[in-house]
Amino acid sequence: MTVKIAVLVSGRGSNLQAIIDSIERGYIKDAAVNLVISNKADAYALERARKHGINAVFLDPGRYDRSGYDRDILKLLNNYDVDLLLLAGYFRILGSEIIDAYRDRILNIHPSLLPAFKGLHAQRQAFEYGVKVAGCTVHYVDEGLDSGPIILQSCVQVLPDDTEETLTGRILEQEHIIYPEAVRLFAEGKLKVEGRKVRSLD
Ligand code: GAR
Repeated sequence: MTVKIAVLVSGRGSNLQAIIDSIERGYIKDAAVNLVISNKADAYALERARKHGINAVFLDPGRYDRSGYDRDILKLLNNYDVDLLLLAGYFRILGSEIIDAYRDRILNIHPSLLPAFKGLHAQRQAFEYGVKVAGCTVHYVDEGLDSGPIILQSCVQVLPDDTEETLTGRILEQEHIIYPEAVRLFAEGKLKVEGRKVRSLD
């Protein structure tokens, strides 16, 4: 059975692209991205989706209150019979209605080794803190900020001549590896959540 995926985005969409490519290449089997929703009209992610024949929707937050916005997202997810919701550079807090409806079926990619450097500009936070190892995390989404159970992480060394930009670029390369991997594990039914621990049956 095909796992139907929706992706929430706000910008460039390179993680979305990595997932679409992994499906087209056959690395992720029995899954399809059916819907992409953006809270930004000019998100390049919307164009990426359309290039692959995926329904791409801009929902204008300015036209709703918070709960109304999430309710319309939920309606779309129900209309498309979505099994898995991915956040991929989605810079808006998800309301509890969606989290409840899709518990253990929402994943996010965050550009730090959680639980360090939650929130915005995680790569800058890590760089300015002076860490020697940085990285990224794919995790389930719960009600907290970047706090759900961790599925996969990948490390990168911080090099002596790194800038925030070079470090961010190397972290992004790892994001494009571990996010598709996590989606594959989910689609193959190989992830088991036990409290805070996620077991991978790969
Ligand atoms: C990625 O680095 C992602 O980890 C980060 O935004 C970027 C989106 O890039 N997300 C967060 O910081 C969420 N807290 P993309 O649009 O090219 O995938």
